[in-house]
Amino acid sequence: APNYEHILTESHDKVGLITLNRPKTFNALSSDLFHEINDALKKFENDSSIGAIVITGNERAFSAGADIKEMLNQTFANSYKTNFLFHWGEINNIKKPVIAAVNGFALGGGCELAMSCDVIYAGETAKFGQPEIKLGLIPGAGGTQRLTRVIGKSKAMELVLSGRTFTAQEAEQWGLVSKVFPVGEVLEKAIELGQEFAGFSQPVIQAAKESVNSAYELSLREGCHFERRIFQALFSLNDAKEGKDAFANKREAKWTHD
Ligand code: CAA
Repeated sequence: APNYEHILTESHDKVGLITLNRPKTFNALSSDLFHEINDALKKFENDSSIGAIVITGNERAFSAGADIKEMLNQTFANSYKTNFLFHWGEINNIKKPVIAAVNGFALGGGCELAMSCDVIYAGETAKFGQPEIKLGLIPGAGGTQRLTRVIGKSKAMELVLSGRTFTAQEAEQWGLVSKVFPVGEVLEKAIELGQEFAGFSQPVIQAAKESVNSAYELSLREGCHFERRIFQALFSLNDAKEGKDAFANKREAKWTHD
């Protein structure tokens, strides 16, 4: 297994698990930690035995956001020249499904990391928020964009401009979180969901993810066009032949992932 300092990685029957492991700082997302997340994501992406990825923290925190101490001496010139936080976007290029299993705090960049995942499962006591305003900052890794698209302008404005936190139950009501579980069950349920995804054809799962994500980028007409083109292209896959044949012959499909 790769030797990481700030995360742990393991696999659970077709699901790659990344556990943020800087417990003393509530999993603050230092630059080094994020590079490790990106490295682990890429390794799971390139591992054909892995069909889905889960990112989690611990029971107290998914993550309290960007490492504030690391930002104390940050300047505009330096952050502009180095395109600070650009590498946080790499998760958006991962083609396999990524599930966030959130317990405790998911604040600032932690909330943004969760929102960059494809599905969020949360524990009953999880607390989300974009508190950057309290630091004299604004969210910098998609918070103002992803939160607004999911929960709407009025709620997003209220939360981003006040820095208030919101609960797992609110997040579920608003559609940000797909399900809420008792604290001790979140990770297990997220892994089970990943295994369910991983039980299907990988290229088809990736096409489904790409198509759902295009709903964020495209107009309805363009999005439906894109979806239909991908749908048509899937008829070239062995797995699409296999899936239809298995149904017609009342047997289980055996996916070959091609
Ligand atoms: N960065 C660096 N260190 C952090 C941190 C962070 N985001 N969050 C917590 N820590 C550290 C604290 O400094 C403290 O360290 P010391 O023991 O060395 O003093 C340790 O973790 C424990 O924290 P607290 O003593 O504050 O613990 P608490 O239980 O009283 O509060 C908390 C927990 C509510 C998570 C609180 O620490 C907190 O509000 N953290 C900051 C959250 C925040 O503002 N996040 C946004 C960051 S900016 C950002 O993310 C920008 C972006 O959009 C990308």
